[in-house]
Amino acid sequence: MTRAFPDGFLFGAATAAYQIEGAAFDDGRTASIWDAFTRIPGAIVGGDDGDVACDHYRRYADDVALMKSLGLQTYRFSVSWARVRPDGGAVNSAGIDFYSRLVDELLAADILPWLTLYHWDLPQALQEKGGWVSRDTAERFVDYAASLHDALGDRVKVWTTLNEPWCASFLGHTGGEHAPGHTSVAEGLLASHHLLLAHGGAVRELRGRDASLDLGITLNHTVADPADPQNAGDVDAARRVDGQFNRWFLDPIHRASYPADIVEDIRAVDPAAVDAFEAAVHDGDLTAIAQPIDTQGVNYYHGDLVSGTRQEHPPVGGGPATTRPGRSPYPSFEGIHPVERGLPRTAQNWEIQPEGLTRLLQRVWDEYARPAGVRLFITENGAAFDDAVSVENGEKRVHDADRTDYLRAHLAAVLDAVDTGVDVRGYFAWSLMDNFEWSWGYDKRFGIVRVDYDTQERTVKDSGREYARIIAARSL
Ligand code: BG6
Repeated sequence: MTRAFPDGFLFGAATAAYQIEGAAFDDGRTASIWDAFTRIPGAIVGGDDGDVACDHYRRYADDVALMKSLGLQTYRFSVSWARVRPDGGAVNSAGIDFYSRLVDELLAADILPWLTLYHWDLPQALQEKGGWVSRDTAERFVDYAASLHDALGDRVKVWTTLNEPWCASFLGHTGGEHAPGHTSVAEGLLASHHLLLAHGGAVRELRGRDASLDLGITLNHTVADPADPQNAGDVDAARRVDGQFNRWFLDPIHRASYPADIVEDIRAVDPAAVDAFEAAVHDGDLTAIAQPIDTQGVNYYHGDLVSGTRQEHPPVGGGPATTRPGRSPYPSFEGIHPVERGLPRTAQNWEIQPEGLTRLLQRVWDEYARPAGVRLFITENGAAFDDAVSVENGEKRVHDADRTDYLRAHLAAVLDAVDTGVDVRGYFAWSLMDNFEWSWGYDKRFGIVRVDYDTQERTVKDSGREYARIIAARSL
């Protein structure tokens, strides 16, 4: 039985600047925290960096032609702050010109540009002034948003402020696995607040410039289930994962408050960190954060089954991405234990749990988006698998059946949510092409298009062919 997607449902693919652009120091771009972080020995699998990546900075026109050939209706990309405002300072017209050309190319191909202002690459010069731990960075972000709107506002109508502030805050400042690589609970909390202030400030600035813009934020989520729903310890572990991962951002954005239970959990393990956080939350901040938005982006990769007691088998999910001495990115992690439930896993050991996406969409819709009149999009979903290239009749092929199944199963999960009344307006595959996967370097491939990093040749994988077929048919 075929299942049709709703009228107007948008199909796209997503990337991020540091992961694909390369040209890391060209045309006036200066270092970002990821340029600095990738230089730390042991920080990235294989010692990889984004200096060249997919060379998209030079190949953008070919890449847009590839998007067109897949039938993409929209393309979600991010902008490098250090290209647009090197060192976070004055506007660099050469850097802005790149995005202007990209947007023109997309529009000429009839592909809707979906712009993300921040996908984790803070100018290193701002990091040296305190980065997201400093309140001032939120103001610099608003200046940056304004300068980009000056240049692109006539052509770009969909603006996402931040991608996954949980990662930028807690993976970057508490777990140490992402740039800037710090391991402090207090820094994670302060960074999260200042990122949210940056979001609210940019929404207000952009809204004031053009009330017709579609403005939003993208959050990453997990669906945390208790190993035994009858066991109070397991239920509490699931509450804490949900609170630290999902509600820490959903609540301030949609309800102008931080989750009080999580604040208290963290106070129990690090009271000084919570004191610093509470001192940083000024009167009026939560109202400034909870600006009305139009769109919420939902990123979903995997679920989590958790217990309050250590299980007999070693925990398997996620696992440290690198050889760095990482810490838990959850400020209050004691007593949360991952549990194996025998689901298939990706090459990163992430659980494949499409049904979690249905429940996630229902929950975000019922509790947050519907009451606020906010539209939902899946702004990232995808999987890393180890691909093999074959040559058939002189043509390169990648038979990535695992990724194709993942894509189809998650699109079906979206339709399951739609069937129960959730208003989901679109889906972006992560990722358009293989790229620099942060602490995993080039070791993990998420693309529906393969990239040969020696030649920069692009090969549409079977998953990309299947996605193109689904887009053309508008049904599964
Ligand atoms: C999301 C990010 O968290 O997950 C992407 O927004 C990222 O930028 C993707 O590439 C996959 O995660 P990772 O850690 O494998 O790069």
